[in-house]
Parts: sequence; C-alpha cells; structure tokens
Amino acid sequence: MCVYIYIYIALTVSLTFIYDNHVNNICSTWGTQHFKTFDGDVFQFPGLCEYNLVKDCRESEKKFSVHIRREENDGNITIRYVVVTISENTFNLTETEVTENGNPVTLPHYSGGVKVEESTFYIRLRATKVGIIVMWNREDAVMVEVSNRYKNQTCGLCGDFNGVPVYNEFMDNGFKVTPIELGIKHRVHLPNDECKDPPVEDESKTNVSHSCKAFVSI
Ligand SMILES: *[C@@H]1O[C@H](CO)[C@@H](O)[C@H](O)[C@H]1NC(C)=O
Ligand SMILES: *[C@@H]1O[C@H](CO)[C@@H](O)[C@H](O)[C@H]1NC(C)=O
Ligand SMILES: *[C@@H]1O[C@H](CO)[C@@H](O)[C@H](O)[C@H]1NC(C)=O
Ligand SMILES: *[C@@H]1O[C@H](CO)[C@@H](O)[C@H](O)[C@H]1NC(C)=O
Repeated sequence: MCVYIYIYIALTVSLTFIYDNHVNNICSTWGTQHFKTFDGDVFQFPGLCEYNLVKDCRESEKKFSVHIRREENDGNITIRYVVVTISENTFNLTETEVTENGNPVTLPHYSGGVKVEESTFYIRLRATKVGIIVMWNREDAVMVEVSNRYKNQTCGLCGDFNGVPVYNEFMDNGFKVTPIELGIKHRVHLPNDECKDPPVEDESKTNVSHSCKAFVSI
C-alpha cells in the first residue's frame, strides 16, 4: 500500500530514483508521521518537535546532519522546516525561504560544494562530494539519499543503514524499543523550546493497520 507514496514522490522528483537501484540508500518521511529507514523499516512517529532524521555518526568526522520539524495547522500536519548541516554550513529550508548560516539566499544557490535548487514540486539540496541529497516537497514529505560509504555509520530516525531492518535501531541493550521511544531519543533539544514529545505508549495499543490510507487520496 505504501508504495503509492514512493511512486508519487519518485515521479514528481526524479525517475532516477526508481531505475538506478539506489532505493536502499533512501530514507523518507511523509504524511503526518510515517518514516522509512535506509534499511527498509516503516514506522510511525507523530512527534512535533525537532528531530534528527539522519546524521553522519562516524567517530572521526561528522559531515552532515538533517533535522526536521513537523507542525500542525488546523489539523493539517506538514513539515515546517528542514535544517541540513553540511560540514560547517547550516541550511534552513522553510516554505518561504532558504537560509545559509542565518542569511537568506536566492535559489538556485551554490556554496562550498552544496547546491540548493527548487522546482514546482520540491526543494533539493545536493552535496555531491559529501554524498547526500535531501528533497522536500514543501509539504509533508522529505527524502534523503546518502552514499554507500555511510553504511552502518548513520544515526537518527533514518536508522543505522547497516542493511538489517529493525536491528540496532529498535534495540537497546537487548530490549525492544518502540518507535515513540526511538523518536524521543532523536529529539534535538533547542534552547527555550517548550515543545513536548508524544507520550510513550504501550506498543500493543498502537494500531497502524490504517496508516497508509492517506496516500490513496494523493
Ligand atoms: C488543510 O488542508 C486542506 C486540504 O489540503 C486545505 O484545503 C486547507 O486549506 C488546509 N488548511 C490549512 C490551515 O493549511
Ligand atoms: C529554521 O527556520 C525555522 C522557521 O523559521 C526556525 O524556527 C528555526 O529556528 C530555524 N533553525 C535554524 C537552525 O536556523
Ligand atoms: C556495524 O558496526 C558494528 C559496530 O561497529 C559492527 O559490529 C557490525 O559488524 C557492523 N555491521 C555491518 C553490516 O557492517
Ligand atoms: C486495527 O485497526 C483495524 C482497522 O481500523 C481493525 O480492523 C483492527 O481490528 C484493529 N486491530 C487491533 C488489534 O486493534
């Protein structure tokens, strides 16, 4: 069922995502709370704070991070901003403007190996050398593609990219971690941010069987 959204995004964004076999380098989030990790695991996390979607978690150097924040407006949940840090530069993508280190830039924008451009359907940030592409449809969906060299080296809601769904991401010292617990763990704590994480629920109460219904209407 969830395949609808991928086809939709892929068609509006770029057909290469379907055909060049990169699919397992892609992590995405869409709708009000859906996430798909690099390793193919789909889970629901309804948090409305800032969360680490994916980060380079190597010990030696950390080349990138992508944070997102959803917000609710009269019942519609969309992504309010996507903050992408590449080396020392921070790009903040919002619906109305893009900033680099706090300064508004006009698109297309090139700087230090990073290209930010937009089309009718999306904003795309590409850092070829670092090996990451971030796409946002300015509404609910973000896709991140990373180079294979980050296998087993990422952290965040996109998971560890070790090729094994559910392994490590959803384990903590041998105990199973719920998606809500995972999400809360990747919260980005900002100064003076009063945002509240969603409450931790007993997993058996979570019913996600209807979770893909929304796509059919796209
Ligand atoms: C919520 O979404 C509906 C359908 O897409 C749209 O018509 C409406 O204007 C949106 N409301 C807000 C407050 O964005
Ligand atoms: C990004 O933009 C949003 C919306 O304007 C703002 O709330 C947030 O603090 C900004 N984050 C950074 C890191 O610039
Ligand atoms: C991932 O990294 C861990 C810890 O460094 C290692 O034990 C594991 O074998 C690695 N897995 C893969 C698939 O590379
Ligand atoms: C989950 O939701 C579906 C449809 O909404 C329902 O048919 C099913 O019985 C529910 N399962 C549980 C365990 O609540």
